[in-house]
Amino acid sequence: MKILVTGSQGYIGYPLVSMLHARGHTVTGLDTGYYADGALYAMDWPESVQQIWKDIRSVEPSDLEGFDAVCHLAELSNDPLGKHNEANTYAINHAGSVHLAQLAKAAGVERFVYTSSCSVYGVENGDAFKTETSPVHPLTAYARCKVQVEADLQAMANDTFTPTFLRNATAYGPSPRQRFDIVLNNLTGVAWTTGVINMRSDGTPWRPLVHIADIGQAIACVLEAPRDAVHNEVFNVGHSDENYQVRDIVDIVAQTLPKCDVSMGNSDGDDRSYRVSFDKIATHLPGFTPAYTLRDGAQQLVDLYAAIDLSPEDFTFRAFTRLKQLRHLIETNQIDDRFFWRDGVEHAEPAISGAPRVSVNSLY
Ligand SMILES: NC(=O)c1ccc[n+]([C@@H]2O[C@H](COP(=O)([O-])OP(=O)(O)OC[C@H]3O[C@@H](n4cnc5c(N)ncnc54)[C@H](O)[C@@H]3O)[C@@H](O)[C@H]2O)c1
Repeated sequence: MKILVTGSQGYIGYPLVSMLHARGHTVTGLDTGYYADGALYAMDWPESVQQIWKDIRSVEPSDLEGFDAVCHLAELSNDPLGKHNEANTYAINHAGSVHLAQLAKAAGVERFVYTSSCSVYGVENGDAFKTETSPVHPLTAYARCKVQVEADLQAMANDTFTPTFLRNATAYGPSPRQRFDIVLNNLTGVAWTTGVINMRSDGTPWRPLVHIADIGQAIACVLEAPRDAVHNEVFNVGHSDENYQVRDIVDIVAQTLPKCDVSMGNSDGDDRSYRVSFDKIATHLPGFTPAYTLRDGAQQLVDLYAAIDLSPEDFTFRAFTRLKQLRHLIETNQIDDRFFWRDGVEHAEPAISGAPRVSVNSLY
């Protein structure tokens, strides 16, 4: 299959490209490169994979020609980014995504996989376990955009255009384009670099979590599934046993790094709390079997930190916290107020080659 992966220089997208390539697909990446100067460790980029450096808002019909499928990951990827600039969040995450899907459909691309999020469920009101048919309750601009893109793309589905919506749980796990602003990566990273596990809530909120390799597997399974199994379908991506309260996540980190102290910090203002059912993906998506538990992921991250000798400077490097990096790009005048690169400024050259080489359990 000829596949265009947008967000190919991001946390999930970078290893996804290698995974799809290894499964025999012909892959092209597209990304504007906001975080391209961050490389936690080196991972080979398959030689035959072409990378297009472009903003999704500037994509033209010719960029979509000849592809069988688009996997769309290129968005501002969390609530803090959404809050920082709501207008840009709508322009990229909603309008940009719909623009991309319209061009894909017009170019005859048959499959479109959209990476939505379980954060569309917001809080536990009503059902204890949210299913794909539960009412959505988005709390933020980021989550509202996910809901709007799903609705707009669902209306575009027809005999020749098959969108599929993957509502991913919160991700964890190692990636060259690491994110330390998501819960397990953050807790393990703070613990490793300071000796303290910092719980920034009362520990009661519920959160489903999923390894990024399992998100990649779900994307691959959707692409490879018979059309009828995935046409205009929504799937929660994760495993029903992998819903945790924040205090359980802290316990797992404490067991993985037993010398660390646990401290109670101030709330980080994240009000989300939801448990999610992953029964539909387990029973209806051919071939999908999640390979990781949160405990495996915590151990794998700690093994990585040991292998690369993760320092406090590495951990706090701006590119590994998405909001910090965008603020840096704004303050240094590299991107304008609409988050386009300024004339003459381009994304930083990908910094992967100089990063330490480690084997991350042959993950991808
Ligand atoms: N990581 C998670 O926990 C999680 C959970 C649920 C859903 N998702 C979704 O999965 C997708 C990927 O998430 P991620 O964690 O890899 O995020 P990320 O921020 O690491 O990667 C996003 C990539 O998209 C690129 N991008 C952003 N705006 C762009 C634009 N206008 N044009 C072109 N490229 C652009 C960035 O440069 C970046 O490389 C996102 O849509 C996110 O909302 C992620």
